[in-house]
Amino acid sequence: MTLKKILVIGANGQLGQSIKVLQSNYQDYQITFISRKQCDLSLPESINHFFSNQQFEVIINCAAYTAVDRAESETELATLINESAVEILAKIAKKQKAIFIHISTDYVFKGENFKPYLEIDSVCPQGVYGETKLKGEQALQAINPLGLMIRTSWVYSEYGNNFLKTMLKLGRERDELNVIFDQIGTPTYASDLAKAILDIVSAPSLKQQHPNFRLFHYSNEGVCSWYDFAKAIFELSEIDCQLNAIETKDYPTAAKRPHYSLLNKTKIKQTFNLKIPYWRDSLQQCLNKLNN
Ligand SMILES: NC(=O)c1ccc[n+]([C@@H]2O[C@H](COP(=O)([O-])OP(=O)(O)OC[C@H]3O[C@@H](n4cnc5c(N)ncnc54)[C@H](OP(=O)(O)O)[C@@H]3O)[C@@H](O)[C@H]2O)c1
Repeated sequence: MTLKKILVIGANGQLGQSIKVLQSNYQDYQITFISRKQCDLSLPESINHFFSNQQFEVIINCAAYTAVDRAESETELATLINESAVEILAKIAKKQKAIFIHISTDYVFKGENFKPYLEIDSVCPQGVYGETKLKGEQALQAINPLGLMIRTSWVYSEYGNNFLKTMLKLGRERDELNVIFDQIGTPTYASDLAKAILDIVSAPSLKQQHPNFRLFHYSNEGVCSWYDFAKAIFELSEIDCQLNAIETKDYPTAAKRPHYSLLNKTKIKQTFNLKIPYWRDSLQQCLNKLNN
């Protein structure tokens, strides 16, 4: 059996770690995981050095500058990682004839839609993070390597820092908590996205090597506000903390975020025959893992 040589960049992030945990279910994949140590995306010479003697069939980029508020004051660094590095990686992937899988964000949208965003809907990021991710998307479209990009939203997992872990901590420490109810979207359990990506890698419709770089949307199914998400976390974890629903204007942050960033997942489901779990069911799965 010939193993498919896959590279995962961003080994220590939520998505990278989720892929690592699932790799034993994919016996015909030989996955190499790298982090900032082997390849620093803010340094072009580090990227070029890493790939100077490495060849892969599939390159999955899970790394990004993801600090949404800090990006407002670290524009240069965010640009290097979310735009310049993506451009370099796409060129390398194209040269190697590798399939390039890249992850982007719902924060490329303005957030004034009244129905879930399609891949063809116009973009208008509200902050630096979204802008730099969009520029990365545009670089990819221009270079047009083999492969695809997946926009996702509200990622959480057992790993790193995320909304779920913050709510678990604060909910256990405090009697009362304010959470915004006027930002609407869908959480994405990193493990579900990781499985979708690993399934897509061997999907027949990927093997057909589409002539153009393609864009897809992926989150869990369903819809909620951050308030609903927090409410579900407390209910499922039996945390006794009073939640107050507040407006975004009463919770100022450095970066502006979209009020509505629901993603329409029809295209990815139909193209790759994916079944996407409901967000509350996935939340329960993640909580089960955190409690074990
Ligand atoms: N988190 C969300 O809510 C969310 C929402 C929508 C889209 N996304 C997108 O989904 C993807 C995965 O997100 P995630 O939540 O898994 O991200 P994450 O947990 O923040 O992980 C990002 C990874 O990128 C790595 N990284 C940052 N700067 C780097 C550099 N200069 N060189 C090499 N690696 C570097 C980090 O390395 P270190 O561990 O060394 O810092 C980290 O492992 C990203 O493309 C993100 O933009 C995320």
